[in-house]
Amino acid sequence: MAKKIVSDLNVKGKKVLIRVDFNVPMKNGVITDDTRVKAALPTIKYVIDNGGKAIVFSHLGRVKSAEDIAKNDIAPVAKRLEELIGKPVKFINATKGAELEAAAKALKDGEILMFQNTRYEDFDVAANKETKKESKNDAELGKYWASLGDVFVNDAFGTAHRAAASNVGIASNVSETAAGFLLEKEINFIGGAVDNPKRPYVAILGGSKVSDKIGVIEALIAKADKVLVGGAMMFTFLKAQGYNVGASRCEEQEFVDLAKNLLAKANGKIILPVDAVVNKAFEDTKGTAKDVNAFASDDMGLDIGPKTLELFAKELNGAKTVVWNGPMGVFEMKNYAAGTVGVCDLLAKLTKEGAATIIGGGDSAAAAEQLGYASKVSHISTGGGASLEYLEGKELPGIACVDEK
Ligand code: 3PG
Repeated sequence: MAKKIVSDLNVKGKKVLIRVDFNVPMKNGVITDDTRVKAALPTIKYVIDNGGKAIVFSHLGRVKSAEDIAKNDIAPVAKRLEELIGKPVKFINATKGAELEAAAKALKDGEILMFQNTRYEDFDVAANKETKKESKNDAELGKYWASLGDVFVNDAFGTAHRAAASNVGIASNVSETAAGFLLEKEINFIGGAVDNPKRPYVAILGGSKVSDKIGVIEALIAKADKVLVGGAMMFTFLKAQGYNVGASRCEEQEFVDLAKNLLAKANGKIILPVDAVVNKAFEDTKGTAKDVNAFASDDMGLDIGPKTLELFAKELNGAKTVVWNGPMGVFEMKNYAAGTVGVCDLLAKLTKEGAATIIGGGDSAAAAEQLGYASKVSHISTGGGASLEYLEGKELPGIACVDEK
């Protein structure tokens, strides 16, 4: 069944609670990447353009101490929202209380209100104690936030794998819950790949550790036609196959054994690199491409090599669905970005040919954005942990709590 979308609601004159994921990276109070704010704009715009009163809120960071409260003030994000949407955003520096209640009541059609970081509710400043009311979905808190509005729109895909007061808690206390346009897009692309992928369906996995992605590797070897592996996790797999990986980053024996089991289960579906670009130190100086059977003991693999890119191109040829999670190498260093750029190019080409190309959030999403490929693929997910759990085939509470049409 399909989920109810914000455009299915009659928002005119209604106070619309909009849960977004504005958990953006910040340095000294300055936002370093506003992708998630931009991604929430269509939903907020839709609500105000259709005569709704938007009450916007999000978590930011993790709040376990008084210092975390100071560190995770969401006010700069409200400012950024105001700049991007081109309309005033009334910011309330509180998560509860008379000022917030009065501001919500006074909202006029087409106006926007945003309140403070929902995770401020995870810490009781007066008692100097962690309470986790937001993160553990405290029943009273969800009810309270629900009382501020009339209907609820969840557009926070990045947090959809967590059952919190600000998503599941509110949903169980309002008459209607719909998905925002961003959540809808994530469901269509990632959910589409999980439930009904057009084949051939090829997954590309990278990043540093097999141990971080066991669930998703297992799910993908069951569902996808091929799973191409790059990033430092390739060395755990290569070691499992008996290769000398030199000084490359590699996990402990427990995970090498696990990689061996995964390879056996995959029955030929896992495609490993045949070469890598190595250096003698972890630094951005020119490396050497070496076949994986020719590593010296001091060779440190920092990217997939050119022969591997050719192999991956062959495996991806004609793919109709491609899911990618995790960079192929240390793309932040210019000498070790070629593998990740190469995969971006392959995805861009497949997108032009009509394939659905999906980049899971986190580092590979950041890489694709940074390298200028954001508009050349079908979808870049705004969720890190959420997109991994979704790809694993798990039910995400932030999606489950949205009404069916
Ligand atoms: C994310 O950035 O992955 C989401 O916003 C969730 O954040 P969390 O891992 O702190 O819950």
